[in-house]
Amino acid sequence: MSHHHDDTHGTDPTHMDWDELTPLLERGAELQQPLYAQAAAWIGEQLPAAAVRRVLDIGSGPGVITCLLAEAFPHAEVVAVDSTPALLDRAMARAERRGLGDRVRTHTAEMPGGMDDLGDADLIWAGNSVHHLGDQRAALTGLARRLRPGGMLAVVEGGLQPRHLPRDIGIGRPGLESRIDAASGDWFEEMRGALPDTKAEVEDWRALLAEAGLAPSATRSFLLDIPAPVTVVVREQLVSAFTWQRKALAGRLSDDDAAVLDRLLDPDDEEGFMRRPDCFLLAARTVHTARRG
Ligand SMILES: C[S@@+](CC[C@H](N)C(=O)[O-])C[C@H]1O[C@@H](n2cnc3c(N)ncnc32)[C@H](O)[C@@H]1O
Repeated sequence: MSHHHDDTHGTDPTHMDWDELTPLLERGAELQQPLYAQAAAWIGEQLPAAAVRRVLDIGSGPGVITCLLAEAFPHAEVVAVDSTPALLDRAMARAERRGLGDRVRTHTAEMPGGMDDLGDADLIWAGNSVHHLGDQRAALTGLARRLRPGGMLAVVEGGLQPRHLPRDIGIGRPGLESRIDAASGDWFEEMRGALPDTKAEVEDWRALLAEAGLAPSATRSFLLDIPAPVTVVVREQLVSAFTWQRKALAGRLSDDDAAVLDRLLDPDDEEGFMRRPDCFLLAARTVHTARRG
């Protein structure tokens, strides 16, 4: 899905404005680096590094994970593929800062149409991006076709909704995050419903990978555990993430919960994310891998 299609999305809360999300995505991925470094190392155990010459990172966003993949596969050219040029600029700048500028490339493409021009690869990583494509089955089939014999497709989808607060935070009705998750689930369904060529799909990733002509190999979840008390950087990320959710979920939360969110977002409120002692970042991401025979 792209913000370039038309400009009628201004007030549609399920439309993703990726440019606006750049700082949130970039800092979010930076905080999750330990988790993704583990995931990349795990992929490295399944594929001999010397045999991995070309990697595609589909929906790379700001390239944090692209760079981790380039570090995990030192013989590979790694291509960050995304529909948002501003995010690819961030990816290239990061690669250059990390001394990876000679092996990291960027490629602007809108999936699924842009899939045919990607060239082939030994490893294709699609992190939190397949769910932004209307026809997930067709997307996986298209990506599977880009794999060289013996190559691997790794899809990051599912896992657990992240947690940032205790159940009872001392203000409002306990269970705020569970209610936000429920509202986000409805939002997600509506977001998917508005994608071009959207298709309902049973999200059995192993079955979908098998139907794409691949042999599912392994599924594993990786944990991010940043306990309280957290740094200012984590606090700022919580503020950004919940500010975005407050907007996206407008009308889906009760007035009481919205009021509690406002207090959490207020930098001067002692109960707010910037000052409260008990906020944290706990997340789990699931990676599904499959091989081409
Ligand atoms: C949730 S972000 C994931 C970023 C990164 N892979 C990560 O895991 O942190 C989804 C990314 O997919 C890109 N994207 C969304 N729809 C796309 C499409 N149709 N074609 C190409 N990229 C797309 C967005 O620009 C965004 O960078």
